[in-house]
Amino acid sequence: MGPLLLLTSTLLSSYFHAGRTVNADRLFTIRDITLSIEPSTDVTRNTNVTLRCKAVVISFGQEALSREYTIYKDGNTVYTKTSSTSEDLLYPLSEARVSNTGKYKCKVNIEGKHMNSGAKKLTVTGLSKPVLRLNKGVVSEGEEITATCTAHGETGSIFFYFYDDSKEIQEKQVNSNRAEAKLRITSIGIHKIHCAYTVLVTPDSFKSEESSAVHVTVKELPITPVLEIFPQSKIYEGDQLDILCTVRNVLQHSEGNLYLSQGNQLLRSGDTKVNHSKVALAKDPGEFECRFEMGDVVKYVSKTVSVTELFSVPTFTMSPAEVFQKENMTLTCKSESFASERLGNQELTYTLEPPESPLTPKGPGVFHGKALQYDFNYTCVARARGIVKPSETLTVRPKVSVSIPKILVVGRAVLGQPLKILCQSDSGSLPINYTLLREYDQLNTTIVKKPFQQAFFAVTITKPDEITKYMCEAKNNHREAPLSKRLYATVIVPLTHPLISVVPDLSDISEGDHLYLLCSVVGTPPVTFKWYRVGDEQPLYTTTSNENNTAYQIPEVSKQDSGAYYCEAFNHANNVVISNQVNIQVRLALWKKLVIGGFCMLAVSVLVVVSVLCFISKRGKREAAAELSVKPSSPKSDDSLTVNLTHDTEVYKAATDAALLYDGTEGRVTNGARDSVASLPIDISNRSSYSIPATV
Ligand SMILES: *[C@@H]1O[C@H](CO)[C@@H](O)[C@H](O)[C@H]1NC(C)=O
Ligand SMILES: *[C@@H]1O[C@H](CO)[C@@H](O)[C@H](O)[C@H]1NC(C)=O
Ligand SMILES: *[C@@H]1O[C@H](CO)[C@@H](O)[C@H](O)[C@H]1NC(C)=O
Ligand SMILES: *[C@@H]1O[C@H](CO)[C@@H](O)[C@H](O)[C@H]1NC(C)=O
Ligand SMILES: *[C@@H]1O[C@H](CO)[C@@H](O)[C@H](O)[C@H]1NC(C)=O
Ligand SMILES: *[C@@H]1O[C@H](CO)[C@@H](O)[C@H](O)[C@H]1NC(C)=O
Ligand SMILES: *[C@@H]1O[C@H](CO)[C@@H](O)[C@H](O)[C@H]1NC(C)=O
Repeated sequence: MGPLLLLTSTLLSSYFHAGRTVNADRLFTIRDITLSIEPSTDVTRNTNVTLRCKAVVISFGQEALSREYTIYKDGNTVYTKTSSTSEDLLYPLSEARVSNTGKYKCKVNIEGKHMNSGAKKLTVTGLSKPVLRLNKGVVSEGEEITATCTAHGETGSIFFYFYDDSKEIQEKQVNSNRAEAKLRITSIGIHKIHCAYTVLVTPDSFKSEESSAVHVTVKELPITPVLEIFPQSKIYEGDQLDILCTVRNVLQHSEGNLYLSQGNQLLRSGDTKVNHSKVALAKDPGEFECRFEMGDVVKYVSKTVSVTELFSVPTFTMSPAEVFQKENMTLTCKSESFASERLGNQELTYTLEPPESPLTPKGPGVFHGKALQYDFNYTCVARARGIVKPSETLTVRPKVSVSIPKILVVGRAVLGQPLKILCQSDSGSLPINYTLLREYDQLNTTIVKKPFQQAFFAVTITKPDEITKYMCEAKNNHREAPLSKRLYATVIVPLTHPLISVVPDLSDISEGDHLYLLCSVVGTPPVTFKWYRVGDEQPLYTTTSNENNTAYQIPEVSKQDSGAYYCEAFNHANNVVISNQVNIQVRLALWKKLVIGGFCMLAVSVLVVVSVLCFISKRGKREAAAELSVKPSSPKSDDSLTVNLTHDTEVYKAATDAALLYDGTEGRVTNGARDSVASLPIDISNRSSYSIPATV
């Protein structure tokens, strides 16, 4: 079935297609289309306006073409018509209105071909004067009036406005030329009501003139709310207040509500009568209002009641104003004023809250006891005739007495330089006054008010033991001022009197000797020493010592070690001191001298022997061939040379001059008593002679 249907429809459609294109009579083209507005584009109200749409079509045949016209106003279709004649399309706007204002356009469509005309703007001016009608001329306050505003002959979307005198009271949007409004006027008197309207022609709107005013008289309703309060005067706290709120002259069956309120608080509500009883309190607002509401009608009356205090809110004070832990204190609670004409003195009682507080009453409103060791909130309550008045909360913050302060030096204590002293207690409430004392004389006071703030003092001392004269005291109350221990700290004495000296004695330094350059200062160790040879940039040696003198050793000096030497020293006082210079001349070693001497003696001896031998041989030749035996006269059978040294030698003297004692470790020479025996690596004291092996 499917393929057969498809074939049939294909055949049919190709038949129709062919029939259309073949018909030459129906060939046409739209040449032009114009829109014109008659009699003019700017007209006044009531003018009969015609829109004319003229389309020029060119075609072969005589057969009339079906023309489909559309008129647009502001983009919306307002009129369509199909015509088979070539006559112009006419669109009449009889008795034009402001709402006809707008941009118009015309379109023609012939068998799928179409063309638009250009746009033309039509402006219609003039609106009719609105007419207002009221259904009543006299009304009671809150009564409804029906107002009708008519804009004769107007069309389109219209906003109507209603005015009471010049104030707009209602607005209505309708799509007709009439609007009805329900008005309720609550203010009494004669009101002038009028209306006006606006025609909305997007994007503009056109406002009409105002209608004539219509008078309406609003009469007052005789409704009267009544507020009665008992007693009427001399009201004291605790008295009973009876309040009655009623309304008079209300018509039967009329729906209304009565409200009784005090300040912003609603006490009661009802229909025509409410009453309320309460205890008068001075703290409550004194304004009462009785209010009746019925529809839009509101009637009210208010009264102010003044309530005299029986007694005032108690004041709660502490004495002394500042209390230390476990000290006695007194809390006093008192109502400064009370109505003696109503209240006996005995009637007013005071109690302390919380009741488990450790204070005991000592007369009316007076509580005595020891302060706790922590903060505590107290409240006192005054009571009489069922009236209860608590005081403000009193927070007692017992203070902590200051602990014994510590005194210490911050950083280093250097003689002659300002030193920083800190005085500090571990506990104690602020503020704390710290005072620096010198032999019980007060020097200066620092008040520490903030946590982590510290009390520092600056002093300068001129003698090391002067430091112990300083103490400090801490004070945060007027009873006691704990005193610190004496200040103790090592006082660094800056270095002075640098001196370089040499062992052995300057005049007796020979090659191969161990030479000691001793540097000494006066001042506090540790001391850093540096030895220099004049002319060198770098020190020969640097060491830090816990003594105030130290030696530097040059083992086995040679001729090249001759030169000038000095030393430098500094300690924690950070002053650098430089010593004098020593000039060192290294002489030839003793054994070299002896060897040279020996050589000379040997040469002389050989010369002598040779001369003697020559002489003898000459004589022998002369005398006979006698047998000769020659015996050596020198050296002796002992083959070593001996040099004697005594305690009076220069070496020993140099050692004792420096008052030094060699302690056995390398490079270290310590102070010793001047008259003690100096012991040097060359054991000069015990050995009186050097033995030098004979090299002959
Ligand atoms: C406008 O046309 C109406 C009929 O549609 C006619 O009654 C009226 O007199 C004409 N007004 C003017 C001003 O020609
Ligand atoms: C309030 O109303 C109650 C009950 O109607 C009445 O007994 C009382 O007297 C009234 N109080 C006053 C002050 O009118
Ligand atoms: C503290 O008060 C008690 C009595 O409550 C008294 O005995 C004591 O002496 C007082 N102490 C001081 C330091 O005033
Ligand atoms: C005391 O009362 C204050 C508030 O009034 C509160 O912040 C505080 O924590 C209370 N102190 C004590 C010790 O209860
Ligand atoms: C006390 O200390 C303050 C600040 O540290 C200082 O300005 C003042 O000179 C000192 N007074 C005395 C007498 O040392
Ligand atoms: C601390 O010093 C200030 C100022 O000198 C003084 O007014 C205050 O009474 C002192 N405080 C104490 C507890 O001595
Ligand atoms: C040098 O040191 C010695 C011992 O170390 C010491 O007794 C002496 O007082 C010091 N000299 C000075 C001036 O400090």
